Amino acid sequence: MITFVDASPRLRRTPGVIPLHGEEGFEGMRRAGQLTAAALDVLTEYVEPGVPTATIDKVAYEFARDHGAVPATIFYKGYRHATCTSINHVVCHGIPDQRPLREGDIVNIDLTLVVDGWHGDSSRMYPVGEISRKAERLIEVTYASLEAGIAAAKPGNTTGDIGAAIQVLAETERMSVVRDFVGHGVGRLFHDEPNIMHFGTPGTGVPLRAGMIFTIEPMINLGRPHVKILSDGWTAVTRDRTLSSQCEHTIGITETGCEIFTLSPGNLFNPLAARKAA
Ligand code: MF3
Ligand code: CO
Ligand code: CO
Repeated sequence: MITFVDASPRLRRTPGVIPLHGEEGFEGMRRAGQLTAAALDVLTEYVEPGVPTATIDKVAYEFARDHGAVPATIFYKGYRHATCTSINHVVCHGIPDQRPLREGDIVNIDLTLVVDGWHGDSSRMYPVGEISRKAERLIEVTYASLEAGIAAAKPGNTTGDIGAAIQVLAETERMSVVRDFVGHGVGRLFHDEPNIMHFGTPGTGVPLRAGMIFTIEPMINLGRPHVKILSDGWTAVTRDRTLSSQCEHTIGITETGCEIFTLSPGNLFNPLAARKAA
């Protein structure tokens, strides 16, 4: 059973209950999403061979502090960093550390900034120097799959239409969709209802309604979809050690389609495409 409720008085997640936000929520999410996107823009120039992900994490932390925001992941379930930095075969939740990035790496940086209580959640794929053609293709397909998911995010469709659009696109390119992590409702809560699966059957799942706010964050692998979690309890890697890629936007469903809250002010959402265009 699905119930929709007014999001305003909502304090905690309740399974099967989906909050619908009004103009106040959309305005709050615009501000949080725009600050997160501005921070991810700033990180672009730091992603270079020789730079440790801990340094990039520090830049993100200081950006948040200087703009009156708080990274949602610090103290979240025991996590202690502003960002997740997921390199090569790391699928998600990679922990920033002192190891220098190397030429040819691909790294996902995932950041959620909280502004006046609203959570803007976004991630991008950053190429480190020159990368292989197969890594480029993986990143291109990942961004195309997110775009396909966003195109399906409108009233009249369901969450299953979003997942199906992503899955068809990735599998047509003979890549695979990770099943173990999903997009999520977001707002004053970091992770709320509904879950947004990145695979599925058209017409199934939850009907999309104006006022829903959630992320779409497909993880696409060059090999098989299966993941395992390393002994640090966070780092998710591909079981077959093939490359994995992810990108994420936070969106709100409108009467006619959706609004993307985390668009890049510098047009740097896809750093690889931005570099090629330059
Ligand atoms: N930002 C991630 C997401 O897209 C969540 C990271 S939780 C952490 O939902 F604790 F691993 F940082
Ligand atoms: Co998310
Ligand atoms: Co995220």
